[in-house]
Amino acid sequence: MDHFLIRGGSRLSGTVEISGSKNAALPIMAACLMTDGINRLHRVPALSDIDAMTRLLVDLGCRVRREAPRKIDIPNHPDLDGAMTIEVIDPTSVDPGDDDARSMRASICMLGPLLARRGKAILAQPGGCSIGERPIDLHLKGLSKLGARFYREDGCIVGEAPDGLRGATVFLCGASGPTVLGTINVMTAATLAEGETRIVGAACEPEVVDTARLLNAMGAKITGAGTSEIVIEGVKQLHAVEHTIIPDRIETGTFMVAAAITGGELRLRGARLDHLVAFVDRLEQAGAKVIQQNGDVLVRAGDRPQSVDYVTWPYPGYPTDLQAQLMALLSTADGKSRVIEHIYPQRFKHATELAKMGAQIDVTGSTAWIDGVNTLVAATVRASDLRASAALLLAAMSASGSSKLERVDHIDRGYEKIEQKLACVGAEIDRCPAKPKLTVSVLGREPETAPTVEPERTDRQIVA
Ligand code: EPZ
Repeated sequence: MDHFLIRGGSRLSGTVEISGSKNAALPIMAACLMTDGINRLHRVPALSDIDAMTRLLVDLGCRVRREAPRKIDIPNHPDLDGAMTIEVIDPTSVDPGDDDARSMRASICMLGPLLARRGKAILAQPGGCSIGERPIDLHLKGLSKLGARFYREDGCIVGEAPDGLRGATVFLCGASGPTVLGTINVMTAATLAEGETRIVGAACEPEVVDTARLLNAMGAKITGAGTSEIVIEGVKQLHAVEHTIIPDRIETGTFMVAAAITGGELRLRGARLDHLVAFVDRLEQAGAKVIQQNGDVLVRAGDRPQSVDYVTWPYPGYPTDLQAQLMALLSTADGKSRVIEHIYPQRFKHATELAKMGAQIDVTGSTAWIDGVNTLVAATVRASDLRASAALLLAAMSASGSSKLERVDHIDRGYEKIEQKLACVGAEIDRCPAKPKLTVSVLGREPETAPTVEPERTDRQIVA
């Protein structure tokens, strides 16, 4: 695995272009399964999770192409995401590759489109970042209400809807609130169901709204996206479209913390503050100055960060995906801050790594107390998940000395060319490629064959 060497202490200054939203692009790519013709998507970020989704679509009979990268007219800025086209060539497959499905939570977004358009889906249990329990019961409950039947076979979830889906009223709130991808999955499937579907307790995140905007452009009839009740009037078919993905609000927030934690000042081009109201409220309380100016966001560090308390909550509350990054900033704040993680109560693995850099953080259950120190010190730290890796990178940029960040494959899942973007505003980060694995060959001996794996039992178990 690659690692980063980060020389801390540089004050960031300059302009960065914000990429398209990963968490909007993934379900939007999946929704393209439901159309005929060539879809053209702008601002799909170049990320390893997007590559995995691309391979899943290819497995499902799609032709996926990337156009040439976009030149960004900012000195030393890396080129970004070229437009992507997606066209269904062979609509018969319902069974994408297991490895990519298991590696990524968003693979669950295939379920709704496949059931709605092809009447069947076979999907490995989705994986994703190690941030605690990530069940899929609400997805299965919602799609079952529309008439799909599910069972497990050979370690996969099999869904069937041979006679099509029918509209229904679905309540999609779980113990921790609404589900983002669950709302998107059911909403997407319901566009081709017969009659009206009403999703009550729907997630309100901007990624839900962007997917609804795409589907409506494709010919769907969706109202209420962005509120807790979404109504979908089923249509017979959807057509291909051209669509521009919204800017990534989590990348935006991460760069805002980068300015604040390095005592710097950044202009974030193409960012949207209206998607980050709760986060900006806390960042300003911590002392940063934030303004929207001509379509850009300007963020300037305050004199010294001040302590703040925050609770992660479904949108429009404080996003769990920016919990770790603000914690890095508050590690050097004046006073004691408190964080309550409501969405993923165990999402605190970064706290142990931040402690290696001198942060004083005490985690009890779903609450973390951060006692601010004057400065962080360089250390070797290891990323455990995507947003944890962003927090550690931010901390290392503010620390005195050179830090090593291991397992940057996590950061590559969700931040497009992050070290190059940060370098163009003054950060000193080197990507060090992993050493190639040595293969030992013994003369005259055949290579060992792979171990055989016992097949799982294939008795059908109804799961929803
Ligand atoms: C999306 O995951 C994001 N992922 C996550 O971002 C983000 O942390 C999360 O929403 C919350 O905002 C993508 O969009 C690809 P949920 P999702 O269903 O939709 C519980 C990142 O760093 N739940 O809204 O899978 C669940 O355990 C990633 O980019 C059920 O109980 O999250 C959690 O407590 C990490 N049953 C809560 O709901 C279900 O069937 C919200 O999860 C589904 C979820």
